[in-house]
Amino acid sequence: METKRSFTDKVIYQIYPRSFCDSNGDGIGDIQGIISKLDYLKDLGVDCLWLSPIYKSPLMDMGYDVADYYSIHPDYGTMEDFDRLLKEADKRGLRIIMDLVVNHTSDQHEWFKASRDPSSPYRDYYIWRKGKKDGVPPNNWTSMFTGPAWTYDSQSEEWYLHLYSSEQPDLNFHNEKVVEEVERILRFYLDKGVYGFRCDVINQCYKESLDDGKGLSPSGRGMEHYLCSEGNHKLLRRFYDDVFSHYDCVVIGETYAIDVENGRRYLDNHELDMFFQFDTANCDNFLLPLFKKKFKPRYLRDVIYKWQTGVSWMANYLENHDQPRSINHYGDPVKFPKASAKALAVLNLTLRGTPFIYQGEEIGMTNLPLQDPEQSQDVSCRQVNEILKKLPFTKKTRYKLANRVNRDHARTPMQWNDAVSAGFSTSEKTWLPVNPNYKAVNVASESADPASVLNFYKALLQLRKKDEVFVYGDFRPIMVHGDLIAYQRVYKDERRFILINLTGKEVKIPRHLILDGAKLLLSSLPVQGYRMGFLSPFEADIFEIK
Ligand code: NOJ
Repeated sequence: METKRSFTDKVIYQIYPRSFCDSNGDGIGDIQGIISKLDYLKDLGVDCLWLSPIYKSPLMDMGYDVADYYSIHPDYGTMEDFDRLLKEADKRGLRIIMDLVVNHTSDQHEWFKASRDPSSPYRDYYIWRKGKKDGVPPNNWTSMFTGPAWTYDSQSEEWYLHLYSSEQPDLNFHNEKVVEEVERILRFYLDKGVYGFRCDVINQCYKESLDDGKGLSPSGRGMEHYLCSEGNHKLLRRFYDDVFSHYDCVVIGETYAIDVENGRRYLDNHELDMFFQFDTANCDNFLLPLFKKKFKPRYLRDVIYKWQTGVSWMANYLENHDQPRSINHYGDPVKFPKASAKALAVLNLTLRGTPFIYQGEEIGMTNLPLQDPEQSQDVSCRQVNEILKKLPFTKKTRYKLANRVNRDHARTPMQWNDAVSAGFSTSEKTWLPVNPNYKAVNVASESADPASVLNFYKALLQLRKKDEVFVYGDFRPIMVHGDLIAYQRVYKDERRFILINLTGKEVKIPRHLILDGAKLLLSSLPVQGYRMGFLSPFEADIFEIK
């Protein structure tokens, strides 16, 4: 199972540019701000920086609605700033990965504006259809953000498809010209020296048919007609043949609702180098993402084992700009915030695959406390809130439910120090509020404390860097009852043994897992229970074994 490509040993750090660092005091992060923090990132020990979209955009979906792929949003700077970022990153041996958002564009993209005219050469760039009858859309699909996936355009008297908000019309990948446009975008950035792309909802691009969907799901109904379709596999392989195979680059798929079989195909057929699965993020869902079971570590463990043993390489992550902070999701933000952050770091960084760290994860940032969903900057949260308003929920329950899907939680400004706006901006007003816990949780205080989450991350990243078992080793799950997470990484004659307790209680270790010769390489806690036969709350240990 050895995989050696230029990306194999890299750790990727996700920057959400709007919230990373504001250099000009307008309350919004920017490219110069990122440049000013490159030394911090280098020192942390990561290798690549994936930037969430910085292209020109009306920001209806915070940049996942691109109005021009070839220009930078003025909030973030200019193309010259971006070129400078590439140069400065390169000087430090850091590589930049862009977000490729091509399932859809913004409705403000020139292609879409032109396509509203039925006689335009751009008409077929998008998916326009007549309704079934007056006022009834062409099919029953629902958008991923809930509500119908079609919007009627009175100018052209037809409906257009959008799997996300109505301001995000889907491109038509049956049109050769669209495929060529995307290849042009890829080459433009690769020629600039970008190291690759994180490809947004890339397994939804190719709609195999527009037949009605099955079921009654309020979001994503119709998926069976486009998710991981044959045409989608062919499309990605074509991008590889035409473009990616000619560069030293990495192609990361964001692949919603993917299964192991399709995952294998994407990897084995050179369609993607790695991909994000959603089973870990959804492991505690109950029917819909709105409803959650009480989280148990075994839910997370079981899906991780499934993917680690199912495919040859994974993009591993525990949080990002769409998910809650991992301490809130899988840890205990009240009693054990730091211990949870460290135990989760051990998990994320010792699995087989490429680890992704989301900005702020390395200092233990947590969710923004409950917000009025009406005020959310997140279009999907506002849309869900509108639907909830029509149902017989109390205001309190509606707030709670809408906040489950509120993506503002993990998008708040990066907490650099305890000054105004957590050192993110000189302005007191920032585009999203700073998490009120910034005085206690910030880079400056974390750097000063040897036992901090940040210093633990650094130690873990160094361990990973000098020990190739974590990069090339096979993953061997160890089946145990209860909630303990245990596995080995095995490479040549070397073995590493990882034990993680993601609960707030002591957990007894089965006798056969207490190994005499085990040499501790790193632990999340200063005092380990391991030798006494138990793991303390949120203890995570890494051993070398023979
Ligand atoms: C996935 C992105 O991560 C998310 O933020 C966005 O809303 C959707 N794709 C649509 O582009």
